[in-house]
Amino acid sequence: AMHHHPKELRLPSDGPLGKFDNQQLQRGFLVFEKVCASCHSLSLVSFRDLQQIGYSEAEVKKIAKDWPIKQPVQDPKAGTWGERDNLASDRFPKVYYPGTGTPPDLSLITKARHGGPAYVYSLLTGYSEKPSAEALAHFPEFAKTPDGMHFNPYFANLNIAMPPPLTADDQVTFSDGTRATVDQMAQDVSAFLVWTAEPTMQRRHAAGVAVVLFLLIATGLAYGAYLTVWRGVK
Ligand code: HEM
Repeated sequence: AMHHHPKELRLPSDGPLGKFDNQQLQRGFLVFEKVCASCHSLSLVSFRDLQQIGYSEAEVKKIAKDWPIKQPVQDPKAGTWGERDNLASDRFPKVYYPGTGTPPDLSLITKARHGGPAYVYSLLTGYSEKPSAEALAHFPEFAKTPDGMHFNPYFANLNIAMPPPLTADDQVTFSDGTRATVDQMAQDVSAFLVWTAEPTMQRRHAAGVAVVLFLLIATGLAYGAYLTVWRGVK
């Protein structure tokens, strides 16, 4: 493949002892809300799942109610379709995208793409990179990006239908005071999309730690029993 290997991205959730950083996940949600949600669905996540990353019930209700894309509802008698405000118990509503290309649902994207969050981060920050001289020498057609497409060396096809979504620092304003550079926004939304793909990761890690502790203690007890049973036996 000619596309670049993802850049390195370190997240607090990495590794078997990794933990989500709720401040970062909330910043990532803000980026999703303000930037990505106009094109991308998040249909496996419900509004109330946001309580897991530190939003209160009241905040979640407000986020749901104010969400610009409404829930479709069918009139049971007339059969016609209308819409209503989102409830905390609703999944994020499906987005209709009229432009070129099909924005994939982002719920599981960090599981679906090789490189996971590092890939998403690289894609979001990679638009300004040009094809390498080597790539151009072998595949001169890379120099031409079709109309309506955007060169991105991290995308498998190298030209992607998604216009660069993060184009300027301070495109969003983080309430925790973190400076919203393009790099920071890209990291945070990638971290958020790790959580949407595996909201129970933290519980799984905690269970793993408990299992290892149990095994260590059980081994210690078994060894103690062994010493006691065989004491004095030659
Ligand atoms: C594709 C993320 C904002 C339109 C994608 C892909 C990801 C992604 C991970 C999949 C690439 C692949 O298939 O490997 C994001 C994030 C956003 C964002 C995190 C916010 C920061 C937007 C916006 C639009 C958009 C605002 C519309 C203006 C698309 C389209 C595709 C796409 C059309 C399909 C591209 C293709 O297959 O050529 N996006 N996106 N995205 N996105 Fe976005």
